[in-house]
Amino acid sequence: MFWKKYSYSQIKSKVFEALSRNTNYRTEDILGIPGTFLDADIFYDDAPFLKDAPFLSTLIANPNHIGVHTFEDEHEDFFKGTQEIEKDLIKICAEEIFSAEPGSYDGYVASGGTEANIEALWIYRNYYIREFNAAQEEIAVIYSADTHYSIPKGLNLLNLAGIEIETDSTTRNIHIKDLELKLENALAQGYKYFIINVNMSTTMFGSVDDIDRVTTLLNLFHVNYKLHVDGAYGGFIYPFIKENSSFTFKNENISSFSIDGHKMLQAPYGTGIFLVRKNYLKYVCTNEAGYVKGKDFTLCGSRSGANAVCVWMILRIHGSAGWRVKMHRLIDRTTFICEKMDEYGIVYYRNPDLNIVTINSEYISCNLAEKYHLVPDSHKDPLWYKIVVMPHVRQGIIDNFLSELKNESYKRPF
Ligand SMILES: Cc1ncc(COP(=O)(O)O)c(C=O)c1O
Repeated sequence: MFWKKYSYSQIKSKVFEALSRNTNYRTEDILGIPGTFLDADIFYDDAPFLKDAPFLSTLIANPNHIGVHTFEDEHEDFFKGTQEIEKDLIKICAEEIFSAEPGSYDGYVASGGTEANIEALWIYRNYYIREFNAAQEEIAVIYSADTHYSIPKGLNLLNLAGIEIETDSTTRNIHIKDLELKLENALAQGYKYFIINVNMSTTMFGSVDDIDRVTTLLNLFHVNYKLHVDGAYGGFIYPFIKENSSFTFKNENISSFSIDGHKMLQAPYGTGIFLVRKNYLKYVCTNEAGYVKGKDFTLCGSRSGANAVCVWMILRIHGSAGWRVKMHRLIDRTTFICEKMDEYGIVYYRNPDLNIVTINSEYISCNLAEKYHLVPDSHKDPLWYKIVVMPHVRQGIIDNFLSELKNESYKRPF
């Protein structure tokens, strides 16, 4: 995994050069596009600091990255400069983080993990319908009980059946026996085509589904399946920590990934990234998008080019080596919390390759959990509270929290 680090001035000149290749609403005769620069009364473009602010300048220029820009053939080119930056971003994610072969993937910056996950479900549903003449009732989506709610949301929107697999209450692993049983039942009920969601970190626990056990079983059953990896949470940390991971495009069982810039990467909201093997986006081509050159293959339609530029800037200012160091720092801080909790006899779940610690609710009072804004698994009747060691979670806050946690330990169970 390698991508070069750029200096701030290199980034600045590349972004301004890209903007200069975009169609410019201020200087060109543009009559046909229902878009323009940001409102100039409030976002005036002659603010002196803008010449040193490539992201804000892109935001104000307001390029629309509608469509997908990883195709060789025609696509929207009004904003070709910043679209090239998005292409480089997708290349870094697909080729460097997930080991794809050059030219073997497509991708785009979606509104978030929800959209990227639903895009995957949408593609595979249509793939089965188009390629196998599948009836909607013959397609089922399999996912663990710890899966993010965007998957059930997608099932509802796409009118797909869902099969939820139990997870172990201690290890958070998918119960392979339950998967086997439910797969047998599904086949007996007439389901023939499966879409599998595998979590490369769950939201609540930071647990990573054992993809190899899941795919070994599916392959043993010789079922027809397409597998999507939900890396919305873990996508920018797990691959940098875990060595020899099965979560890459080298794993032929995987067809797509979701990874969110607006979580670990500290990018603004609206920066979910969807990556998929070549020749799959055609299943969600909206042919009716007549006015979009090259048609639209995304769920969202219009989307901000500034978001793509911003994620690219973050990855480039660190380079792969810098990003790895930054993620290791979060992991070290998380490990420190766990070591102290072991000392205090607290029951928690933690995956050593992730920066989430999920505490059993019998080991922490509601008051303390609320004071430090720990998030419960359920607001009604919490069984777990999670700590997410994001970059703002400094050692001082951790020390204060741990000392209060230790002080209340005589009151357990809560
Ligand atoms: C594992 C996982 N998938 C999907 C999502 C949805 O992401 P978003 O809120 O960006 O739509 C999240 C959000 O927390 C998540 O943790």
